[in-house]
Amino acid sequence: MIIDGKAIAAKVRAEVAQAVRDIEARARVKPGLALIRVGNDPASEIYVRGKVKACQETGMAGFEHILPEQTTEAELLALVRKLNVDPHVHGVLVQLPLPRQIDPGAVLDLLAPQKDVDGFGPHNAGALVTGRKGLRPCTPLGILRLLDEAQTRLEGAQALVVGRSNIVGKPVAMLLLERHATVTIAHSRTAALAEQVARADVLVAAIGKAEIIRGDWIKPGATVVDVGMNRNAAGKLTGDVEFARASERARAITPVPGGVGPMTIAYLLSNTIQAARAQLGL
Ligand code: GUN
Repeated sequence: MIIDGKAIAAKVRAEVAQAVRDIEARARVKPGLALIRVGNDPASEIYVRGKVKACQETGMAGFEHILPEQTTEAELLALVRKLNVDPHVHGVLVQLPLPRQIDPGAVLDLLAPQKDVDGFGPHNAGALVTGRKGLRPCTPLGILRLLDEAQTRLEGAQALVVGRSNIVGKPVAMLLLERHATVTIAHSRTAALAEQVARADVLVAAIGKAEIIRGDWIKPGATVVDVGMNRNAAGKLTGDVEFARASERARAITPVPGGVGPMTIAYLLSNTIQAARAQLGL
């Protein structure tokens, strides 16, 4: 089975559009998301533009703040402080990476937890680890939705997460643990990665190295979610998994592109709905 992230993301976005109408009818305000980009990282420009467009398509208000590369930490903190108390803004996203002179930790520490729609701040990260209510990171939420749509058994399953970033690897491992999987986290210094992969009923690849996971390592019948977005030697967009050979062994697998990618924005919008409802008392 090829897991169709585009179709599943469209379903989530339709649910979000319905929720926007419901919130507007009951509270007389549009859910609002502020997006901050600092500098001109080309990937960030594409991501933030996509997020703003997605807001507009679902009827939410998207407020784009583009700051120059030389912005100081104090200037960015002043903007976050303003958005923290702006009643039209229910979610705030600071696109990462930030320029060198700005400590992302200082920004995330200041961001109001109830508006932290990426779930990257210490309050929400702590809530995830301790199993309390909070905003969860978007890509991990999208990955769990893909696994559920593909009817993947998680309870008691061997789950392997390859990658340990704060954005994907660590939080998706926590979500899998919450669903009672036996979770292993592998990374760039893991010895014998092939042997770890061969034991995995569920594989989440999020290490950012083109086709580093060979198709013939995959356990027959496994479910594979590939978060990678890499250019291979031939300049083609590829995931972290060798797709063609992996798809002969996997029960279900996500393509790149068209797998995890579309889910991240869909769950950013969904988190903004959750944040707006909480702030409006709905
Ligand atoms: N940079 C790469 N992925 C993300 C993300 O999900 N959110 C933010 N804010 N920055 C990112």
